[in-house]
Amino acid sequence: MSQPSLALVDTDPAELAVDAIVIGLHSQPDDGGALLPAAGAESIAAAFDGKLTSTLALLGASGAPGEVTKLATLGTIAAPLIVAVGLGDEPSGSAPELEKLRRGTGAAVRALAGSATVALALPLPDDEDAPGVLRAILEGALLGGYKFAGYKTKPQPNRRDPVAQLQVHVPDAADEAAQAEVTRAEVVARSVRLARDWVNMPPNELRPPSFADAVVAAAQGSGLEVEVLDFDELKAGGYGGIVAVGQGSEAPPRLVKLSYTPEGVESPKRVALVGKGITFDTGGISIKPSAGMWEMKSDMAGAAAIGAAMLAVAALKPGVAVSGYLAMAENMPSGSAYRPGDVITMFNGKRVEVFNTDAEGRMVLGDAIARACADGTDYVLEASTLTGGQVIALGKRIAGLMGSGPATELVRAAGDKVGEPAWPMPLPEEVRKGMESDIADICQTNSNLDRAGHMLQGGVFLREFVAEGVEWAHVDIAGPGYHAGEATGYWTKGGTGVPIRTFLQAIDDLA
Ligand code: BES
Ligand code: MN
Ligand code: ZN
Repeated sequence: MSQPSLALVDTDPAELAVDAIVIGLHSQPDDGGALLPAAGAESIAAAFDGKLTSTLALLGASGAPGEVTKLATLGTIAAPLIVAVGLGDEPSGSAPELEKLRRGTGAAVRALAGSATVALALPLPDDEDAPGVLRAILEGALLGGYKFAGYKTKPQPNRRDPVAQLQVHVPDAADEAAQAEVTRAEVVARSVRLARDWVNMPPNELRPPSFADAVVAAAQGSGLEVEVLDFDELKAGGYGGIVAVGQGSEAPPRLVKLSYTPEGVESPKRVALVGKGITFDTGGISIKPSAGMWEMKSDMAGAAAIGAAMLAVAALKPGVAVSGYLAMAENMPSGSAYRPGDVITMFNGKRVEVFNTDAEGRMVLGDAIARACADGTDYVLEASTLTGGQVIALGKRIAGLMGSGPATELVRAAGDKVGEPAWPMPLPEEVRKGMESDIADICQTNSNLDRAGHMLQGGVFLREFVAEGVEWAHVDIAGPGYHAGEATGYWTKGGTGVPIRTFLQAIDDLA
């Protein structure tokens, strides 16, 4: 479904003729929880003659973050409907908390499905923080308004279409910095929405060949250089890990590379983005239990994020050279599938003893990371739904972060800024010792199938494929890559698009 249109307006919010207007609402714990309209809502509060907060309180509003309260305006202002979104405690002079704004605008725009035109009148500081605050408001609104088109054959009765037009109130709609944020938000949101679409597609509709085709089609006209390796080329090229995982499926594997080179920058820094693209993970011969297996259609969330992020890079044109590597395979059990016990020669020549075919992500990623290093890069930033251990350790919102110091700090700081937290994890020597193989260079998991330090085993394994001198970060998004619950904030049900905004921020920070 297409993205809503976005425009800045500087008309008095009370006079905006839109279907609904979104304002912010703070709670004031020091004042017995009394409500306070957030900055931006002054003229609307004035039109209500001092009765706005008491009326909202009557409707149950508390100002809690993400809370949405609807109020019919009955002619007091031009818009027939106000949506007050909770922004939590009033920040005393400090910059508004960006993630509260993102989640608030996301929740409001989601709650307004069925309205065609929506205006946002939210707090914008008049200092150097303004562009960042505007960015948070715009991204939250565009992402909260996402809906997967789906496959229903008949239109649903009482269907409420996502908001089609967004207007955002700013002090000066002609301000260039504000206009630049609109352009950027549209690019970033289009990228996240595309990644969500790919993750939400059913696994019969998105297998490695069709996934590669979809990425190539999306990259048409973007200016990105495109390379696709098919099954024969992967075999001939020595991509043993991708071939091993992919050989069990009738839909053969692919490695897709997308590259962006900045113009007019002499020897730019080089960043490789790598993504796990298992279009369906049955576990292979080490088959998974059937309950919940359907969710493994999201096992390509890393590759979806990297492919979509590359399109954003092509549009944003940072002063850094960026390449994306999408390692695609379907992990199936069959007569041609790889087996526990197999020894596989990887792209960098290392030999891996397979213990569990369900640890397939690291097999395809080892090759993709090694290829990225062979092409020459300063940084490898990799994202993958790699281990159930990540979900156990950090839950569904916080990614696991492993790698070298500079790259993990880059990603941690970037994730913090954009509301995609990733928590640094160690790569202990004893975990590597536990992966010694009797007959090959390394086991793919602990050699006794001991699940202790499960998430860390993934990071320790991937380190073997990073070339000397390359800074690298492995972001395990097994939890944050897919949101199985009901929509919340700007997260809709299904694919989340994590960590696209983190990687784009990291690239900005390197430029
Ligand atoms: N794709 C899974 C990891 C996963 C689990 C992602 C839950 C999202 C939600 C991965 O390929 C896998 O199966 N990992 C195994 C590794 C084990 C066999 C070493 C796991 O986590 O159990
Ligand atoms: Mn698996
Ligand atoms: Zn997997």
